[in-house]
Amino acid sequence: MRKQHTPLQLPHTDILPEIVEPLLTWYRGQSTLRCLPWREEVTPYHTWISEIMLQQTRASAVIPYYTRFLEVLPDIASLARCDDELLMKLWQGLGYYSRARNLKKAACQIVEDFGGQMPADFAALLALPGIGRYTASAIGSIAFGLPLPAVDGNILRVTMRILQCNEDIAQLSVRRAVEDALAPHYPSGDDAGALNQAFMDLGAT
Ligand code: ADE
Repeated sequence: MRKQHTPLQLPHTDILPEIVEPLLTWYRGQSTLRCLPWREEVTPYHTWISEIMLQQTRASAVIPYYTRFLEVLPDIASLARCDDELLMKLWQGLGYYSRARNLKKAACQIVEDFGGQMPADFAALLALPGIGRYTASAIGSIAFGLPLPAVDGNILRVTMRILQCNEDIAQLSVRRAVEDALAPHYPSGDDAGALNQAFMDLGAT
């Protein structure tokens, strides 16, 4: 029988509920809010496209690709039926083309299984091609107001620093422990996405 690992216990987690309000206040008080187009008109489709582009590319480099992509393919239905050559042309320069192929595959699945609407559910988002735990949580929180911590390198670094913990953030067990420690303190509604984006901005500055 496989040995069960005991979940990793992080230190000082009682401090976590105290950082939520200050982070939200700091995020909302930023003069520019980093002026990112995917924060201006938030829809599940917009959040999805931006999060996939941002997986391997800096925000400033993503902006022109994001804008052009949405001009040509403004909704899930147009992405599902677009031809592959056009898709590759829109993606050219961003690299990691499997991201684009997965976007189209997922769009077809959303049309078929969910009547063309992105599912407002973590497990259903996670089951779509190209969407992992981080991206499902980012879409769930930003577009649907679900209380899900989107744990990437930024939020890991910031949280481990707050907890004064030196565990190796490359370990999956550390990532899951941070998710588990943050999840009970996550707000719902607009604050869920704001809190995740506050962590992203803090990690980026
Ligand atoms: N990186 C990944 N997602 C982001 C977002 N929503 N805003 C800024 N940077 C990001």
